[in-house]
Amino acid sequence: MNFELTISPMNDIEADVELIIVVNNDLKHRFVHDKKMLKKAGFSAEQDETCLLIENNRLYVGVESISSVNIRTAVATAIKGLSKTSYKNLKIASYMNHPKCTAVLRAMVEGFELGAYNFDNYKSKKSTQAIKKIIISLEEYNNYELDIEICAIAVNNGQITAEATNFTRDIVNTTPDDCYPAVMADIAEKLAENNGLTCNILKPKQLKEEKMETLLAVARASRHRPRVIHLTHKPKKPKAVVTLVGKGLTYDSGGLSLKPSDYMVTMKSDKSGGSAVLGIMKAISEMNLPIEVHGFVGAVENMIGGDAYKPDDVLVAKNGKTIEVRNTDAEGRLVLADVLCYAQQEVKADYIFDFATLTGASVVGVGHYTSSVMGNNDLPKDAVIAAAKSAGEFATKLDFNRYLKKSLKSEIADICNISNTRYGGAITAGQFLEEFINKEHKDKWAHIDIAGPAFVEHAWGENPHGASGAGVRMMLRLLEKLAKEK
Ligand code: BES
Ligand code: ZN
Ligand code: ZN
Repeated sequence: MNFELTISPMNDIEADVELIIVVNNDLKHRFVHDKKMLKKAGFSAEQDETCLLIENNRLYVGVESISSVNIRTAVATAIKGLSKTSYKNLKIASYMNHPKCTAVLRAMVEGFELGAYNFDNYKSKKSTQAIKKIIISLEEYNNYELDIEICAIAVNNGQITAEATNFTRDIVNTTPDDCYPAVMADIAEKLAENNGLTCNILKPKQLKEEKMETLLAVARASRHRPRVIHLTHKPKKPKAVVTLVGKGLTYDSGGLSLKPSDYMVTMKSDKSGGSAVLGIMKAISEMNLPIEVHGFVGAVENMIGGDAYKPDDVLVAKNGKTIEVRNTDAEGRLVLADVLCYAQQEVKADYIFDFATLTGASVVGVGHYTSSVMGNNDLPKDAVIAAAKSAGEFATKLDFNRYLKKSLKSEIADICNISNTRYGGAITAGQFLEEFINKEHKDKWAHIDIAGPAFVEHAWGENPHGASGAGVRMMLRLLEKLAKEK
């Protein structure tokens, strides 16, 4: 999609269709040209309600108020509504609250890109999004001191963010037979080549040398051998060093603790954390942020077979801790344990964030649309939650506590891979990971359980059926904020 910013008045711009945003049900506003017709169509301009007046080539959409979140979802809904039309380009006013406040402009661009996303790789008939060009008019601000450069940066960053989110969505939506660990590693290598990142891929031989035995145990029954991916973005004078770790289970059958059939469907999405890390690395290299960012992905398939790891096994993690396996479906934490240890061995970071579709309990606790944020210290957790909010993602804190921690005790090893209570599963999973964070990193780490929003089987807001790219937008905001500090 192409975006063009102009100071030309809306009336002077030639476009196939115009998108008009109606704020707070105000159908009497001067921007609303077709009052009678809209009334006849029963349009009341509720948030995300659309009305296409095909004779006038005008599309109306409602927002409750002008805010980034409202504009992003409204614009996404509107563009989705045009997907079957033959319009090739669209014009819209900028709707910024203030000429210096470009957040809404960026959200608008994100809304167009995210709303136009469509995953049809497996359809024999491809649907093509006809609208290729969006012209945004800044005419309302001609009398103010308008900094068109700042507006252009907002548009560019919005586009980079949304394209990276769509890149992540594509990986997650790809089937497990087409996207297995070696394929994830190929995607990372190609990304590194195109975007000037460094890429190191660890294959089974190196994983053995690195003593990543818990990861290797999870991977054992699959014909697809595991990979650990390490991508690096290293600017000249970085303002901070950040490590990202992603769970990349290209399929989670549950292993010998096999999932019931209903729960197995959609488990191609268990690579969402790792895919988010790849998307974030793509965007930060395109924005060229002055932050050193290391992206690690544990890419593994959890299957059954004669060589499968078993409940009752005791595994030794990279940091020497022993783990009693009581459920092979709690595999993500085993993979992350080793990858977190490896990431800390390789990089001394100011922050460590891990992204994982780790527990069904997170979805039960906070619902489908929200990520759970955990850790030992409020600082990184609050930073994630604030960044999620300004990026248009939902995230909330789940507090650790020492009583739940006890439920992970093992009689025969250092720790169990599941807790002995059926409640608080998102927290106990987070507290399991805590065991693999070194002392010096304890206060720098936050764990983000994206099991709820990563893959939803219906469209919501700017998100389509399937993968949403959860984590990408929130982490980019956080990294952009770090880049502006000091
Ligand atoms: N990948 C799943 C978690 C999950 C569930 C993600 C639903 C997305 C949607 C994870 O590996 C898992 O199976 N966790 C178990 C843990 C349990 C055995 C302690 C779960 O949540 O049931
Ligand atoms: Zn599992
Ligand atoms: Zn899993």
